[in-house]
Amino acid sequence: MTRVFVSRDIFSVVLGANAVAAAFAPHATVVRTGSRGMVWLEPLVEVETPTGRIAYGPVTLADVPAILAGTAPSLGLTDEIPFMKRQTRVTFARCGVVDPFSLADYEAHGGLAALRKARELGAAATIDLVLKSGLRGRGGAGFPTGIKWKTTADADGDRKYIVCNADEGDSGTFADRMLMEGDPFSLIEGMAIAGFCVGATKGYVYTRSEYPHAIATFDTALAVARRAGVLGNDFDIEQRVGAGAYVCGEETALLESLEGKRGQVRAKPPLPAHKGLFGCPTVVNNVITLATVPAILTGGAEAYQALGIGRSRGTMPVQLAGNVKHGGLFEAGFGVSLGELVIDIGGGTLSGRPVRAVQVGGPLGAYFPPSLFDTPFDYEAFAARDGLVGHGGIVVFDDTVDLARQARFAMEFCAVESCGKCTPCRIGSTRGMETIDKIAAGEKVAANTELLRDLCHTLKFGSLCALGGFIPYPVLSALDHFPEDFLNPQGIAAE
Ligand SMILES: Cc1cc2nc3c(=O)[nH]c(=O)nc-3n(C[C@H](O)[C@H](O)[C@H](O)COP(=O)(O)O)c2cc1C
Ligand code: SF4
Repeated sequence: MTRVFVSRDIFSVVLGANAVAAAFAPHATVVRTGSRGMVWLEPLVEVETPTGRIAYGPVTLADVPAILAGTAPSLGLTDEIPFMKRQTRVTFARCGVVDPFSLADYEAHGGLAALRKARELGAAATIDLVLKSGLRGRGGAGFPTGIKWKTTADADGDRKYIVCNADEGDSGTFADRMLMEGDPFSLIEGMAIAGFCVGATKGYVYTRSEYPHAIATFDTALAVARRAGVLGNDFDIEQRVGAGAYVCGEETALLESLEGKRGQVRAKPPLPAHKGLFGCPTVVNNVITLATVPAILTGGAEAYQALGIGRSRGTMPVQLAGNVKHGGLFEAGFGVSLGELVIDIGGGTLSGRPVRAVQVGGPLGAYFPPSLFDTPFDYEAFAARDGLVGHGGIVVFDDTVDLARQARFAMEFCAVESCGKCTPCRIGSTRGMETIDKIAAGEKVAANTELLRDLCHTLKFGSLCALGGFIPYPVLSALDHFPEDFLNPQGIAAE
């Protein structure tokens, strides 16, 4: 029977993939995979042929007979679709290709070779490879992963932990979820390697509650891996579900939450690598960071390091979201420009109107106008323009966006999500909202704008963590690049 591949990622399921898969089932062998990340083509159906998989999408039930008969117009080979062809898939190489529950499929596509290699090389040499690869944490802060692992390995402690941060709270981001739904064994393997390297006996995956599909997929894959003995006798993994606070993505608040306490940020030092979960040395890494390690070990640290620019090495799974024509996940070496991503790859806005702004790096990221679209995707290049790469999310807005309203939203978000531990964030965010309201109402505009800038300075330098510390990025970028929106009395004040 012909083999047909249909994604079981939540993107695809909400767009009708289950019904499409059921319609193929009596006539073909249906393999449920993760998503290829081309959301506008979902439900995407791929038919196996001797030359490769031929793609069709978006597929409706009415298309099924013609696809089976070979008479339906296709998109050609999946790997030749320009959105796929322009990518360098390393972390997501298997996503959309394999059955996320089949360990045999995972191994047939190179899975578990990295764990074997790490055990052969030994912990110190494996950490050395991670260091040499130049891998930096993909959760947002971009801290070198090898250094974090070495610090934890060198720390004294009866017990050590690996904590995977799957809280993925940034707006417009879904890479962690897609990976957990499409290639969960790579995360399990990455965690097992991390555990082996630092001498940890237990790993926790902290997943946001808004991801029920990913939670279920990961738990099923974990049970398969455990039954097959993948984790060995010295390491185990457990998934825990957060209760829905953005700040619980911050590593120390996450640790508090894992310990069963209220998710409040801890002062640093001590670093989690020295005193983390239950006071023990702990590696906290993002899903993508951990899931990339197996690919680095099998593909070679030098090959990974050869991708990217400056100090941003390897690939970044960029997530295109918001008002964008070709939304989805695009993995490429660092260095691709923002304009290339939004216009050439994303195809501009879905509404067809001009792009006016993009917010990169989640709710704490800056709004960039098209005049900054030459900015390469690179931690340092974004920082030099008062922006953030963050977790790689890009949210696109057309010319109907009101940036004063977005700036107010940033302050409101901070006020709602603040853990309350420090004054600038807890109180400053509410004062910020009020001040933007006054500006929008035309009240002492110059004096209140100065006050807002002063408040942002206090937040930036006086906050304990990056929630309060980075909220000035969206506010000031809106003010600096879109000052005309703050002069519009019809804006926020009218609502
Ligand atoms: C307010 C706030 C929210 C955060 N949310 C996340 C998140 O959802 N996922 C994540 O991996 N890192 C998040 N981080 C970054 C983590 O604190 C930490 O740097 C990261 O988990 C470390 O993993 P990495 O080195 O692999 O990036 C957040 C940080 C802050 C300040
Ligand atoms: S900046 Fe905000 S979220 Fe961070 S510790 Fe202070 S009050 Fe808590």
